[in-house]
Amino acid sequence: MIKGFSKLTKEAKIEWLIANYFKGEEKAREVLVSYWHSDEKLQKLHDEFIENTVSNFYMPMGIAPNFLINGKEYAVPMVTEESSVVAAAAKSANFWADKGGFKATVKSTTKIGHVHFLWKGDNTDDLTSFIAGIVPEFYTESNGITANMRKRGGGILAIQLVDKTADIPHYYQLEAEFETCDSMGANFINSCLEKFADVLKSEIANASLAVNEVEVVMCILSNYTPKCLVKVEVSCPIAQMVEGTDMSPQAFAERFTTAVRIAETQPYRAVTHNKGIMNGIDSVILATGNDFRAIEASAHAYASKDGRYSSLTHADMSDGQFKFWIEVPLALGTVGGITGLHPMVKFAHQMMGNPSAAELMMISAAVGLAQNFSALRSLTTTGIQQGHMKMHLLNILNQLEATEEEKAMIVRFFIKNTPHHAEVVSAFQRVRGGEVIA
Ligand code: MEV
Repeated sequence: MIKGFSKLTKEAKIEWLIANYFKGEEKAREVLVSYWHSDEKLQKLHDEFIENTVSNFYMPMGIAPNFLINGKEYAVPMVTEESSVVAAAAKSANFWADKGGFKATVKSTTKIGHVHFLWKGDNTDDLTSFIAGIVPEFYTESNGITANMRKRGGGILAIQLVDKTADIPHYYQLEAEFETCDSMGANFINSCLEKFADVLKSEIANASLAVNEVEVVMCILSNYTPKCLVKVEVSCPIAQMVEGTDMSPQAFAERFTTAVRIAETQPYRAVTHNKGIMNGIDSVILATGNDFRAIEASAHAYASKDGRYSSLTHADMSDGQFKFWIEVPLALGTVGGITGLHPMVKFAHQMMGNPSAAELMMISAAVGLAQNFSALRSLTTTGIQQGHMKMHLLNILNQLEATEEEKAMIVRFFIKNTPHHAEVVSAFQRVRGGEVIA
């Protein structure tokens, strides 16, 4: 155990790590140092993002071009470690680009936060009237915090008391709704809520209520954002659902729709189905410096909103048309956080024309829908492994430390067949042994 680790210099932290976990091996230090940025100022910026930074952790950033969303063309930045994700999104973007592209609408952008508190009185109606009477105080006392947000068109939208005593004795929530414009708004919301808690405590002390105090348990935004919702849809005549195998467009559309229906009704399948959607969404969230944990938590809660975990996407076939859509809560920011700090994040925003938060919601959801379309297309036709293993092939070959010539020969060899791990190893051994495979 070490005390005061955070107070050590970066070098001393690394020294301690190498001595305690790498038997003093210099190679481990070299790995860490090799990922430091050569520009000291930039490295310092990274050092200060979090505590106890010892190095940087690289993830690949790929680009999925040709995303046509509401008539505007985007090249979307995606940060992910999974081999087939960018290729799948790009393939789907191409498929839909000449069929009108993605039609997106932001349904609402409201976020919610709570002051969770206990009040030991027994007449909830009294508390309700008291809270209704002090609502203006919540607004005026937080004026200093909300001034800038109000200038940008946002701020506090509503404040109300919610009686939760049926769940926990004496438990109430002061529930507030916010518009945070282009910022994700977590700090803004939490600051407002803490101010509301102060107002509540001081106002109740002078109220004519049977019980003149509250115990504030906590003040925090909710990452469940069902009122910060975006819908994205693609559609085309069923006859255009041509997917590359010998399956007819009608049969493909039917099987695809059945696969979606399975995800809508079967939680075991829905989790994997939605995971695939999040492959796309998370990669945009990461590239744009947003909080993927918040996005994940909210998306999965939304997938359970009807009491059973279900699909975030839906499909329909009627009047000769195939329709496929996603509805997902995405509380995103395009200002604040690290969006203006991290050079790669800034690059990502710039590449998409510095979108507003609402525009980024539409782009991210479109990528999620595209990802799901590609996954289901493969799953319902060739099987997922064909595309997936082709993309993963280079990872296996890199792990085997194959040379560029060996890689080229083996990739050529597997063009027509799905490469499975054992077959790749065997092909590699043959090539390493001097055999020419074709
Ligand atoms: C893999 O990361 C994602 C998929 O499993 C998604 C799906 O099954 O729909 C292919």
